[in-house]
Amino acid sequence: MAGRIRVSGSKNAVLPMLAATLLTRHRCVITDVPDIVDVRNFLKILTDLGCSVKTRPGKVEVAAENLRTFRPDPVLVGSMRASVVLLGALLGRSRQVDLSFPGGDLIGARPIDVHLRAFSQMGAVANGQSRLRLKAKRLNGAEVFAESSVTGTENMILAGVLATGTTVIKLAALEPHVLSLCKFLKKMGARISGIGTHTLVIRGVKNLHGATSSVIPDMIEAGTFALLAAATKSQITITNVDHSQMDAVYHKMSEMGVRFSLAKDSLTILKPKSSYRAGAIRTGLYPNLATDLQPPFGVFATQCRGTSVVHDWIWEGRLGYLAELKKLGARVRLIDTHRAEITGPVGLKSGNIRSSDIRAGMTLLIAAIVARGKSVVRDIHHIDRGYEKIEQRLSKLGAKITRQV
Ligand code: EPU
Repeated sequence: MAGRIRVSGSKNAVLPMLAATLLTRHRCVITDVPDIVDVRNFLKILTDLGCSVKTRPGKVEVAAENLRTFRPDPVLVGSMRASVVLLGALLGRSRQVDLSFPGGDLIGARPIDVHLRAFSQMGAVANGQSRLRLKAKRLNGAEVFAESSVTGTENMILAGVLATGTTVIKLAALEPHVLSLCKFLKKMGARISGIGTHTLVIRGVKNLHGATSSVIPDMIEAGTFALLAAATKSQITITNVDHSQMDAVYHKMSEMGVRFSLAKDSLTILKPKSSYRAGAIRTGLYPNLATDLQPPFGVFATQCRGTSVVHDWIWEGRLGYLAELKKLGARVRLIDTHRAEITGPVGLKSGNIRSSDIRAGMTLLIAAIVARGKSVVRDIHHIDRGYEKIEQRLSKLGAKITRQV
């Protein structure tokens, strides 16, 4: 494989931005929007709530002038985890919300106690049987603890910007998508300080206005393409990369022997001159290595000399892809649901494998490209949720992929 590939706008950044458009009656414009199933479904949710939504390639306009309901479509809510941020957005806008339980990847228990505690501190009460049917006579600013939960922090921000008084979010998550949400809301007139720290101070305002903003590059996609290039020993240039988000990836790739060079907003993975080295693939909260990049690092580890250790404490279901990798000949020892050892290098052989979530799906696609011969990856609807036109983009790099419908 060889060539150039552009990183799309970040899934986990654009979805909370779309939720934020509910907080104003005025038109918001978002650019560099990835054409992925989660975005299409989120836009359907907004349309169904009463928003006017216009789309052009890479661009979305949303005007939430009048909402006709505060009950988002349960089927669409069940299709993705990010729909949980509708809780904060609709509480902020309508002071009530009736959400069915958000779906998404089967990667762990995915509790939302942290979100619900904050809403309760801000004056929202459960209205009826469901824990996710909430109502607030008045949403009051409060001191709330996000416990580094990503969507939890986003929910508190979304609820706080139109609340009465000051909301102080302690232990806020620092992921780039949390910062980009804050910056978008500031453009809409929100008063948020402490952006980029663990303590966000939000002074509630009466109204927000429309704004235009572009979506930040997807650091998970950037890291995934880098590991695809490394695992296939190819020279590939990855463009639209925000290097400031990539410290953990660059550090880990260097440690494991990947050669690469950086230009202004691009990264070129170079062919290796010697064997790759096994490494310790430990995930953490940003700016540590993202759990969403652990699976692609896992498949890369099969091409490294020695035994790599994988430790992903965040989700207890994130190692499921390893059973599929074993079918291709990977040498894997599962220690428990959070830890495994991968020994390499091995020449992966072709096989029939099944993806179980977005990141596992993309990882297995990489494994199938690395493997000699023809492999079949099933359940690719998971991949479509988060990666735009993946087979076209990877085919341009020389991968031989066909989609069977
Ligand atoms: N947690 C709790 N209670 C809560 C919330 C979280 O115990 O109320 C725990 C979770 O069980 C987990 C940890 O805290 O062990 C982190 O969870 P977090 O809430 O940060 O995750 P999330 O907001 O549900 C987002 C991304 C995930 C990504 C994680 C971690 C979105 C839509 N999802 O999930 O992305 O893995 O942060 O970085 O932003 C993906 O895109 O494939 C994906 C799964």
